[in-house]
Amino acid sequence: MAPLISIKSSDEKLEIVNQLLLPHKTEFIEINSVEDAHDAIKTMKLTSPKKIRGAPAIASLAALSLSQHVRRSLAASPPPAFLESRDALKTHIDGILAFLFTARPTAVNLGAATKRLGKTLDAGIAAGKDPRTIAQELIAEGNAVADEDVGRNKEMAKWAGEWLLQRVREQAPGTPAGDLNVLTVCNTGSLATSGYGTALGMITYLHETGKLQKAYYTQTTPYHQGSRLTALELQTLKIPSVMICDTMVGSLFQHHNIHAVVVGADRIARNGDTANKIGTYNAAVLAARHKIPFIVVAPISTVDLDVADGSQIPIEQRPALEACLVRGILYPNEGKSEQVQVMITPSGLEGVYNPSFDVTPAELITAIVTEKGVAVKAEGATTFDLTPIV
Ligand code: MRU
Repeated sequence: MAPLISIKSSDEKLEIVNQLLLPHKTEFIEINSVEDAHDAIKTMKLTSPKKIRGAPAIASLAALSLSQHVRRSLAASPPPAFLESRDALKTHIDGILAFLFTARPTAVNLGAATKRLGKTLDAGIAAGKDPRTIAQELIAEGNAVADEDVGRNKEMAKWAGEWLLQRVREQAPGTPAGDLNVLTVCNTGSLATSGYGTALGMITYLHETGKLQKAYYTQTTPYHQGSRLTALELQTLKIPSVMICDTMVGSLFQHHNIHAVVVGADRIARNGDTANKIGTYNAAVLAARHKIPFIVVAPISTVDLDVADGSQIPIEQRPALEACLVRGILYPNEGKSEQVQVMITPSGLEGVYNPSFDVTPAELITAIVTEKGVAVKAEGATTFDLTPIV
């Protein structure tokens, strides 16, 4: 079966997979404006099918929606006023980029993409180019943000996989090839990126090279990115896998031979502190207790050198309701499926804590892997120097 995809883009159409119907049904929804893209990134509404998640996929959709907007504007008759002068173009595009930037706070890839497009705009203006030429450059740059993702994911997946193999060879030389067991959190595969994935990319690489025995993944409550999306991706790729509840990580480490925990990231601070899906920190604490290497795999655009440490990373708080509901499909009759949401708390529950992400301190992270290579801490250090890989 072909790998799953989160975004389909052509000159005619921009579409995202309706992640709320996954894993039961694959259906694409059109994104027709930057407002649609903003809504899809921001709302994650239980009732809204327009929803995209995963740091690189969020950045790709934002960039592609700008490309779509500019492409349609160039083809419009009469052309919109903002294409008539460089000043008008700058005001218009800066406004859109600022709007897209506000869609979700924690994943820095979105900011990296909007900054990159802003640079293309400013360079064209500074060079005194015609507004239509700058518009064409913006389309190309927006497409490049999404296109580059797959290639770099394959690179970081290989770096991470080879690093782990080397480490296992050194520290547990008796481990037979093909015997690696790895735990991951959340969903970091094709559905969270433009393809292949970051942490799930490493798992895929180990499987493709015959080194993986099993991938374990947490359900990742309350949004269930693990049980809905990672489960489907691993099944589609025919990677042997086992789902665990979020509360079972400690038990897994006590009773099974796990060679690594591998996760993605939404933002990596200058010192290596890493924000990722809620529950990542729990897994890191337990991994340290069990001396299991903890690996972060993410593109360079996830490293935010402007942020000194994890305390400065903004953490998105999700609506209380998201933690009070589970969503799924009822199969009342064969061939018929009905989406349902079930309340699992007393209604009107006050006091729900629902941060979308947590921060794993650098001290608990063994390696940070980007498309440029692997960073580890210097002997005795508790933080990373990420400059060589940024
Ligand atoms: O709230 P989400 O589903 O967007 O959170 C996603 C994660 O935390 C991922 O681990 C991260 O974005 C990396 S995706 C390659």
